This record gives sequence, structure tokens and C-alpha cells, in this order.
Amino acid sequence: MVVLKSAAELATMREAGRVVAQILTAVRAAAQPGATLQELDDLARELLSEKGAKSSFLHYHPSFAPIPYPAVLCLSVNDAIVHGIPDARRLDDGDLLSIDFGAHIDGYHGDSAITVGIGTVDAAAQRLSDVGKQALDAGIAAAVAGNRLGDISHAVQTVCRAAKYGMPTGYGGHGVGTAMHEDPHVPNEGRPGRGLALRPGLVLAIEPMVVESGSDRHRLLLDGWTVSTVDGSRAAHWEHTIAVTEDGPVILTAL
Ligand code: MF3
Ligand code: CO
Repeated sequence: MVVLKSAAELATMREAGRVVAQILTAVRAAAQPGATLQELDDLARELLSEKGAKSSFLHYHPSFAPIPYPAVLCLSVNDAIVHGIPDARRLDDGDLLSIDFGAHIDGYHGDSAITVGIGTVDAAAQRLSDVGKQALDAGIAAAVAGNRLGDISHAVQTVCRAAKYGMPTGYGGHGVGTAMHEDPHVPNEGRPGRGLALRPGLVLAIEPMVVESGSDRHRLLLDGWTVSTVDGSRAAHWEHTIAVTEDGPVILTAL
């Protein structure tokens, strides 16, 4: 069921989204060569309690997962695409890291992800991340009342495929509200002019994922959560939670 949000609900979601952006910014600054993934998760936990917000991810237990999610960040390094679990791994110069973070305030969620290079990354990694960000921007620009869901999907797909990147089959974005994952599913590929009509009050997480080799294949690691490429090639992932409004798309997870 797709639930449209009132202006008051959108105001609360903007608060939650701003906290998500602030914490992502702090984690990004701390994501330096030598830092461990666990340290970044600890930092996000501290900032959450400082800001009086709660994690959307910690203990989240969808039916597809064998164990509840054990952290507040998803940290996906190099060939990990999404849902990497923070552990004792140390970041290396040249790593490509997706930082995905969600928080709720008064029960309303925000969900956002960025991909960052650790220290100095090669030009191919930078391009991969840049294209992921451009795909996100294109998806957001299509989130206009009167358009349809397929217009967002098609906009994302067009940017990723023009760059000859892979897109993990079946993965995409989602509605956001009093649950982190609500209807509708937002595919990263689709046909323009098709699907749900976008109306003011609709809140969506748009989250393109791109794979350097061009492969769409993915596999689940033994930890039950980490989604990785099959051929070892690198991936990038970007996400914002946005609201469709009378005045166009509003990025709820902006600073
Ligand atoms: N942005 C990710 C998603 O929508 C967040 C997953 S959180 C987790 O899939 F807890 F499920 F890992
Ligand atoms: Co999401």
C-alpha cells in the first residue's frame, strides 16, 4: 500500500533526513586510510544518540535476512555493492566505500547513501562513483508530480547504461515513511510513462547501484547480508530520500 504524507509528516521527515545527512558527512570525514569500519559505525552510533534520533538499520530483520542487521551503517567496500556489515577491516588508500545510513525521528525515517574514495582513488573508481551520483540526480529530477514511477527508473537506467555499467538485477529503491521500506519498490530500470502515477506527498528512496565491469550479477555473502559482485569488480551506490511535491522534488536527506 502506497501512503502519501501530509505537510506535517514531511516536515518531520525533513528533520530525520537532515540528521541522516549530518551524520553521513561526519562519517565521510572519518573514512580515511587506516580507520576501521567498526570505528565508523561507533561514530555514527554516538552522533545518533547526541541528536536524539534512532537507527533505522539496527536490528532490522526483513524476511530475506537470516539475522537481524547488527549495525547502524552499511559499509560496502570495493566489490561489495550494498549491505556490507561493519567489522574490524581497516580502510586502505584507494578503496571505494559506500556509506549507507538511515535514522528515524518520531517514527519517521530517512535513508541515504554516498560513495567515497579513501585517500586517493584511481580515475576509473572516481568515474564509477560520479556516474552513480549522476544517475541519482537524474532519478530525482524525474520525480515530478504527473510523471510515473517508470520515468524515475528509466532516468536512472539511462545514465548507468550509457556508461556501460552493470546494475544488480532486482535491486532498487523503495517508499519511505513510518517504515524504512514501504511500497512502492522503485526499480532502477523501467519504461517511461509506465507504473504508479507520482503525486504530491509520495516519499521515495531512489538508490542507483553501478558495477564497473558491466555485469548485472550479484551474490550474497555468507554473513547473510553483504551483496557483492560476482566477478570481483567494484561497485558504487548513491541514495537520497525525496518527496514529490507541488513544487517539484524535495531532497529530504540533504544537509
Ligand atoms: N538503503 C538500504 C536499503 O534500502 C538500507 C538497508 S538497511 C539494512 O536497502 F538494515 F537493511 F541493511
Ligand atoms: Co534504501
